[in-house]
Amino acid sequence: MKAIILAGGFGTRLRPLSCTRPKLLFPLANQPILDWTVKALAENGVDTVVLAVNYMAEAIVRHMGASKYGVSIIYSREERPLGTGGPIKRAEHILGRDEPFLAMNGDVVCEVDYRRMVEYHTDREAVATVALVEVERPERFGVAQLDEEDRIIRFVEKPKPEAAPSRLVNAGIYTLSPEIFDYIPPGRPVSIEREVFPRLAERGLLYGYKISGPWIDIGVPEDYLKANAIMLDKVAKEPVIGEASEVEAEVVAPTVLGAAVKVGRDSVVGPYVSVGDGVVIGRGCRIENSVIFPGAFIGDFTSIRNAIVGENAVLGRWVKVEGTSIIGDYVNVSDNVTITSGVSICPSKSVSESILKPGRVL
Ligand code: GTP
Repeated sequence: MKAIILAGGFGTRLRPLSCTRPKLLFPLANQPILDWTVKALAENGVDTVVLAVNYMAEAIVRHMGASKYGVSIIYSREERPLGTGGPIKRAEHILGRDEPFLAMNGDVVCEVDYRRMVEYHTDREAVATVALVEVERPERFGVAQLDEEDRIIRFVEKPKPEAAPSRLVNAGIYTLSPEIFDYIPPGRPVSIEREVFPRLAERGLLYGYKISGPWIDIGVPEDYLKANAIMLDKVAKEPVIGEASEVEAEVVAPTVLGAAVKVGRDSVVGPYVSVGDGVVIGRGCRIENSVIFPGAFIGDFTSIRNAIVGENAVLGRWVKVEGTSIIGDYVNVSDNVTITSGVSICPSKSVSESILKPGRVL
């Protein structure tokens, strides 16, 4: 079976973190988002993955290569972004017309039994089956209205709470039959949600497949940290400490430290922390529910809670970084600086004074 992953897109809201690493290569429990997805597809019998790429395509090609986890990887490059439907049409010659295939947004973290989803799709002779997930607050998403046979009658995009027809939202994972190619106009950006699915719904060819279990659409820092926590729960019930690391501190599970990490005495790292390779953390530090990218340096007595620290960033001593802030790659933060919640500091900036209001530092 084949699958196509939408791996383009600018990732606007997390973009301040890195100029060199596309969102899908951000680590979750020290492994890129894309690796988790391709591995799960391999475990579900997928043998070929098409990666639809545009923005920072080279970094993705370099990282994934021609095959990984026993799956062949084929790249479909867009000269300009083609949205969520256009890349599927563009890859028609690779996906072929023989059998249904999977299509998914690359920035979704979930657990889906893909084999069962394809069976469900085939049994109903659907053209498209959309994985649906129940959420507490559907207002941010496309909300499905189903008939009694689980056909999707329509999606209501970002409805007011009282107007939501259900709490089941589009999870960004689809099984598609080759007839789908006849519904996507070629050569231009197409939104599968807005242009293609409504036409299928009118004809009764669009089905919903309910999934349960964890599901995160990684858009904003909170979601990214939640996705990281889900993966840490899977792989780091006991603390994981990489090769050649020197740790004099307390590491609280679930937490992963990469290779050649140093942590000084009296520090506490965890719970829910991913620390990339080569990171140095001084003494007396407190780090909790955060992702620290490779090569970062954290000075003595610094505390980081619910935040993301980019590659090779340098934080001085007694620095305090608070909730859902982003410290970009190569940023330099001086001693004693406090960075409050909701701050994004763009790559390579130097910060020598506290930032006490949320916002972006360019
Ligand atoms: P925001 O800009 O923050 O909304 O993020 P995004 O660019 O990731 O957009 P969105 O969340 O809507 O994208 C859903 C998925 O589709 C993500 O996995 C993107 O990588 C991918 N994607 C978005 N636009 C394109 C595109 O034009 N081409 C391709 N190939 N993938 C895309």
